[in-house]
Amino acid sequence: MKLIGPFKQIVTLADLPLRGKLSDEQLQVIIDGGIVVDDGKIKETGNFEALKSKNQNIETVTIEGEQIALPGFVDSHTHICFGGNRANDFAMRNAGKTYLEIAESGGGIWSSVQHTRNASEEELLKTLLERIGFLVSLGITTIEIKSGYGLDVENELKMLRIIKKAQDHTKAKLVPTCLSAHLKPRDFAGSNPEYLNYILTEILPKVKEEALAKRVDIFIEKSAFQPEESKDFLLKTKDLGFDITVHADQFTPGSSRIAVEVGAKSADHLEATIDEDIEFLAKSDTVATALPGASLGLGEKFTPARKLLDAGAIVAIASDWNPGSAPMGNLITQASILAAFEKLTTAEVLAGMTFRAAHALGLGDRGKLEVGKKADFVTFKTDNFQNVLYNQGSLNAENVYINGNLIH
Ligand code: NIG
Ligand code: FE
Repeated sequence: MKLIGPFKQIVTLADLPLRGKLSDEQLQVIIDGGIVVDDGKIKETGNFEALKSKNQNIETVTIEGEQIALPGFVDSHTHICFGGNRANDFAMRNAGKTYLEIAESGGGIWSSVQHTRNASEEELLKTLLERIGFLVSLGITTIEIKSGYGLDVENELKMLRIIKKAQDHTKAKLVPTCLSAHLKPRDFAGSNPEYLNYILTEILPKVKEEALAKRVDIFIEKSAFQPEESKDFLLKTKDLGFDITVHADQFTPGSSRIAVEVGAKSADHLEATIDEDIEFLAKSDTVATALPGASLGLGEKFTPARKLLDAGAIVAIASDWNPGSAPMGNLITQASILAAFEKLTTAEVLAGMTFRAAHALGLGDRGKLEVGKKADFVTFKTDNFQNVLYNQGSLNAENVYINGNLIH
């Protein structure tokens, strides 16, 4: 057992509801606070001096200077296991080329598939660990990571095995997701439904056998998989025992409805979601995940997070870090910018990067500094927590704790 503090402010996010809009008055802020950690979990939070006199015999970890503490962030949507780089896609898009033109001239997802297939396992693990290290340095303590640049049995398993191996090298919790349904690969001789069937019969049984992932994702979009074939696929993956998440409504509306109908844990992107479907999502338990990094990478509009929150949806914010549409990877910068454009309160943004994102991953044990939750938290050298979003990513995290242990 140990007592960590004092912190100028601890923003606990305790007692905030899972869904809907939040005002900053709802935020519980402990002034001159301390955190008592027992067995990796939060035993108590409160005034540091009071906790100290109450727990006289326990180890005290003294925090020097003025720092604030927030729950560790959760990035519930990334594609950070990949080979190569798509800087040329970014340059071509900005020079006016369309998505299709870029794909045809050798860019797009298929180019990342080729680079990932050709990369050695050592190289993929090394670059994956570097990206994980960057996310942890931002204060992110739980990271979802998708496959989806292998697109055949051998290479999808290669990606998922590397993601599994990465867990041995980081204290952050990694949550793998099988995204074999990212795109039908160019070298697959068959139709979309045939490729989806190949995933169901050749890839997912092995994923299950080796316990490589418990979640399945699909990209439903004109250029990828169509609504009806996707729905059929998702229901079958559910029968196999997988949790579902969907890349929905990125450019074309309609697929968030499918995500809700199949009981997906989350529907991510939603930049093109129509008002009627916002209502539909808001009445469901499917988390609506905004991915501002993709809007910034593509120069496209943001997810209508304000409307989703007002309608009562569970809104998470994730980075979507990938080589194509979202190369930045700085979730704090992205969430701060989303807040400014969508008019989100600090409480809504912090909830979206913590316990609401954790809910999308089925992890109810983290994201709030509440009694019994995991003692994952991040500190910043400042006397006011508002500075974290105000500085839009330029105020670096000072320390990162996982299970109450300093890891960064
Ligand atoms: O979430 N939309 C589809 N998939 C990714 C992009 C992947 C890529 O372009 O490599 C996304 O934006
Ligand atoms: Fe994505």
